[in-house]
Amino acid sequence: MAEKVRLRFPVSMLWMLDNKFRENYGSHKSLLLKLGISRGMHVLEPGCGPGIITKAISTIVGEIGWVFAFDVNPKMIEQAKQKLSTVKTVSLAVCAAHQIPIAEPKHLFDAIIFYYVLHEIANRERLLLLYSSFLNKDGLLIITEPRVEVNRDFLCTEIKQVEGAGFELIDQSQTLPFRSELVFRKV
Ligand SMILES: C[S@@+](CC[C@H](N)C(=O)[O-])C[C@H]1O[C@@H](n2cnc3c(N)ncnc32)[C@H](O)[C@@H]1O
Repeated sequence: MAEKVRLRFPVSMLWMLDNKFRENYGSHKSLLLKLGISRGMHVLEPGCGPGIITKAISTIVGEIGWVFAFDVNPKMIEQAKQKLSTVKTVSLAVCAAHQIPIAEPKHLFDAIIFYYVLHEIANRERLLLLYSSFLNKDGLLIITEPRVEVNRDFLCTEIKQVEGAGFELIDQSQTLPFRSELVFRKV
């Protein structure tokens, strides 16, 4: 059955995600390195939006790595394509998180990163079980959430949902006051 997606991030607010200040001063690269992204990794990025985080991931994984980034909103992928047109190691697609077109063999990725996305997705338990099958042994599941929208209780619920899908929480941080960061390992 097709996933019903209610777009919670309006295109009229795209400027908040896609601006030079966020791109240049967001220290995304150092955060991603701290959270476990490294050279040569194959990374899945659901809900990539305009591609700012995708670009930072691609600079870390380098030419021997690969990033598969997708978003349900075609406008977001349009922006990401403009930004990443010269980067050969990034594949971009318009699709919904529950309908990701991954064929067998499934164990493709070393890391999956939900950057400000997981709280927007319905049926998280089902999604997380599916995504666990996309990860290599010891693969990482990285989640960042905005604290304005995801309060402590909601974050605890998300942690339980991820653990219930067969992951172990290995790091929890808050390098900026408005962002929560979680790193899980597949067990
Ligand atoms: C707050 S934005 C974050 C975008 C990007 N990760 C960033 O930090 O720049 C959330 C994104 O998730 C996407 N999204 C929400 N639900 C989705 C779903 N079910 N499948 C795929 N993408 C989804 C939205 O279209 C939006 O682009």
